[in-house]
Amino acid sequence: SRRTFLKGSAVVGTSFAVGAGFAARPGVASATPLMLKAQFTDAAIASDGVTPKVMTYGLGDGVAKGMPPVLRMKKGEPFAARLFNGLDEPTTVHWHGLRIVNAMDGVPEMTQAYVYPGDGFDYAFTPPDAGTFWYHPHCNTLTQMGHGMTGVIVVENPDDPQFDAEVVLNLRDWRLGKGGAFTAPFKPRDAAKGGTYGTVRTANWQEGPSYEAPAGGLVRVRIAATDVTRIYTIGLEGGQGVIVALDGNAMDKPFLLDRLDFGPGQRVELVVRMPDEEGKSVTLGNFRSSTPWTIATLKAVGSASLKRDLGDVTALPANAIAEADLSTATRIPLDFTATAEHKPTESICGSLGYTFWAINKVPWQGDTPDPVAPLSDLKLGKSYVLQVRNRTPHAHPIHLHGLSFRVLSSNKRTFLPPPTDTILLQPDEQAELGLVADNLGDWLLHCHIIEHQKTGMSAYFRVV
Ligand code: C2O
Ligand code: CU
Repeated sequence: SRRTFLKGSAVVGTSFAVGAGFAARPGVASATPLMLKAQFTDAAIASDGVTPKVMTYGLGDGVAKGMPPVLRMKKGEPFAARLFNGLDEPTTVHWHGLRIVNAMDGVPEMTQAYVYPGDGFDYAFTPPDAGTFWYHPHCNTLTQMGHGMTGVIVVENPDDPQFDAEVVLNLRDWRLGKGGAFTAPFKPRDAAKGGTYGTVRTANWQEGPSYEAPAGGLVRVRIAATDVTRIYTIGLEGGQGVIVALDGNAMDKPFLLDRLDFGPGQRVELVVRMPDEEGKSVTLGNFRSSTPWTIATLKAVGSASLKRDLGDVTALPANAIAEADLSTATRIPLDFTATAEHKPTESICGSLGYTFWAINKVPWQGDTPDPVAPLSDLKLGKSYVLQVRNRTPHAHPIHLHGLSFRVLSSNKRTFLPPPTDTILLQPDEQAELGLVADNLGDWLLHCHIIEHQKTGMSAYFRVV
């Protein structure tokens, strides 16, 4: 049966699935726990060598060969994974963007104990929303994520429209020197500004990979920005595509992609129309710097019997996310600032040794024992409006665990996205974020530029 087939296949690797006439890439869907092993491996990432001691996740007992597997779950169906720590330092798994119970959120000292080397932890939950999400550790994250531990999650929805192919892209940088060896994960002077960018830019651990898709067809492209620093401005060349979802949530109407900014932690889903002519390509590029570069290429193959039209792309079904009641909502001001006054705290989960940032004047790194007090206690079921203000000249992708919010207003944007778990706050942006506190527990709020998080831009809410 399909189920046995899925369980029996160790899935490592890329991305190509669901194609008319194309081999389906086996996914992972089971309430029998997946064995998810955090481990070291050696991988060829840069063109000039093999990077030793990359950190990754592998399925089952064997040695992982490359990037963390794309985990496939089903909306509303139980999922379970048994983490085994094969590293030489503590770790945990955070399921970024999934609105699951607090005890499964993966934040050490807050929702669970550290998982020490040789130990394990059982994660089990039911994802309530369909869409593109991701997973990563929440301990010593600049190193663990920077060295490879970022994987994509696809939560499938049986009610989704069909496409001719699907490509999943895990975008990230690597900080590598000669021969592919890791260099320092950050530079303090960059951590105090926009963050330290990598030297090797990859999609699915490859520089500018190319995927085949049926000529004339519609391809669903799920993109996750899992780097610890890089903000992208994406665009297409050689063809067109529409944005159908942002951060796991459907757009009301598919929206033609021109240029789109998105930062660490965020996801974009596009439907790309493949050229009719075999051999022609559509290129996904990053246009943020003056010299644009190729993220990945989609190459048309087969006869263009499909001739699908972007105009036929309909909205994906929406997730059921409660809207804040603005007449009763409590307003909570949140100021994001630069600071240099506080001493960093030592932590089992790693300290960078600097404090550069703060939320409401309090710096915290997010995974130390004895956390600072919550920003505030939120009452279960009540509505809130977070009045966020970026008082810095840098962009910050601010991520809230466990709860989704909607951008109600902003002085820096005309287009307001669907509900999200991460907002890329632009320099000097002031925005109002509406949410319903419908998930009990302690939920982190932090910048997903990990150097910023770990040097102070971190805090949490407590839903009681
Ligand atoms: Cu992906 Cu605490 O976050
Ligand atoms: Cu930041």
